[in-house]
Amino acid sequence: MKTRDRLRIAMQKSGRLTEPALDLLNRCGLSFRQSRDKLFCFGEGEPVDLLLVRDDDIPGLIAQGVCDLGIVGRNVLSEYQLTDGREAEPLAEWRPLGFGRCRLSIAVPQEMAYEEVGQLAGRRIATSYPGLLREWLRTNGVDAGVVTLAGSVEIAPRLGTADAICDLVQSGGTLVANHLREADVLLESEAVLAGPQTLPVDERGDMIELLLKRLDGVMQVRE
Ligand code: PRP
Ligand code: ZN
Ligand code: MG
Repeated sequence: MKTRDRLRIAMQKSGRLTEPALDLLNRCGLSFRQSRDKLFCFGEGEPVDLLLVRDDDIPGLIAQGVCDLGIVGRNVLSEYQLTDGREAEPLAEWRPLGFGRCRLSIAVPQEMAYEEVGQLAGRRIATSYPGLLREWLRTNGVDAGVVTLAGSVEIAPRLGTADAICDLVQSGGTLVANHLREADVLLESEAVLAGPQTLPVDERGDMIELLLKRLDGVMQVRE
């Protein structure tokens, strides 16, 4: 791949992380000219550009070297490492960013008894996070079915295609609306700055170091 001299940061195109991520980058002294297709935003002051993509694609883009850094949920990063990125060099979580906090949890129908994980044995669990769910089940020695869905996981119990779900919970509103209750937590998540384990030894590496320094300053002020 042709080496770039400008740094490229991937972030979610539209979703819960978009506004706070942009706000954080602005506070770090970065500003962007919005391009017409809004997929690529050229950085105005510093040599740092933005790529606006689906959050699930961000770890892969970093692993391929298409982007140098990404702002993404720990849940997406961890799922990638357990599935598509299994064989690749693990990515690093450079900094936790303090926004987009949520939990990856098991939720069960209101009326279903749940005291401990063993009660999931032989049940079917719908999720968009098969890697994290399977690992958690394995760690707990529980044999359960994993039904992988790309979205709308919360309706699976009502449709009869699963007995429970494993999905992100933020306010809990989605669970209440679907007569589900949170039963167990697999992972505490928030937005993180992700990148390769080793920084490039060129201007981009220097820029990343500068950015990390500014980020630490911004985060300190926020505490
Ligand atoms: C997540 C998750 C739940 C919802 C939980 O979906 O899948 O549906 O948020 O949030 P709550 O507890 O505040 O209701 P999201 O809206 O991020 O998008 P997606 O399901 O399309 O990925
Ligand atoms: Zn997503
Ligand atoms: Mg959802």
